[in-house]
Amino acid sequence: MRRKFVAGNWKMNGNLAALTELQAIAAAADPRVDVAVAVPATLIHPAAQRAGFPIGAEDVHAADSGAHTGCVSASMIKEAGAAFSIVGHSERRQGQKETDADVKAKAEACHRHGLDAILCVGETLEQREAGQAEQVVTAQVRASLPEGASGDWLAIAYEPIWAIGTGEVATVADVEAMHAAIRGALVAALGAEQGGAIRLLYGGSVTADNAAGLLHAAEVDGALVGGASLTAAKFAPIIAAA
Ligand code: G3P
Repeated sequence: MRRKFVAGNWKMNGNLAALTELQAIAAAADPRVDVAVAVPATLIHPAAQRAGFPIGAEDVHAADSGAHTGCVSASMIKEAGAAFSIVGHSERRQGQKETDADVKAKAEACHRHGLDAILCVGETLEQREAGQAEQVVTAQVRASLPEGASGDWLAIAYEPIWAIGTGEVATVADVEAMHAAIRGALVAALGAEQGGAIRLLYGGSVTADNAAGLLHAAEVDGALVGGASLTAAKFAPIIAAA
């Protein structure tokens, strides 16, 4: 039985003053649901000290150390107090030209340093309209899947790019079809037990209004929430819906 998992992604938002929201989110947490929030690197340490639930990073570098100006390693975010990192978010795949191989290496760096990872995949609107969505996303899953992938530390977030920050939400039927396809790819790669244990999150304009339908759809184990995770007022109802 996979526990529901509601994760927030603050992206490049938030400052020290915003951390009071984490305490309000903690107050709304429910022992039946796993809750976590990924914050900008500058906030990991103070957030981890205050939150009372797992705090994560938005991204990590695949290397353990070295000449990578401006980057942060898995061991650094771990030392700062992070419990996990997001890897492969489409804003990095597109904006920073990250490949599936980069994403795989980043997830493996997380695992090497005892961090969990939320690995993101998703198709563009053009790919969906061309009928290629499942093919594109399952190919991303296969090529990004880290060595040692296991539900103990890895979750996969399906985030259709056209639904991120747009108010456009995938239909429950589309999410169920895509999650079934991702589950099939995981089971084919890892076997029924390991492939069946990895949690599949949906992300893309999740709000209090649509969370219940999405979170209780078949093969949906939780949500990765952007804008609506920035305040407890918007995030708490999503946790409650889970
Ligand atoms: O990682 C979460 C995300 O990309 C979705 O963002 O603002 O549409 O919930 P948002």
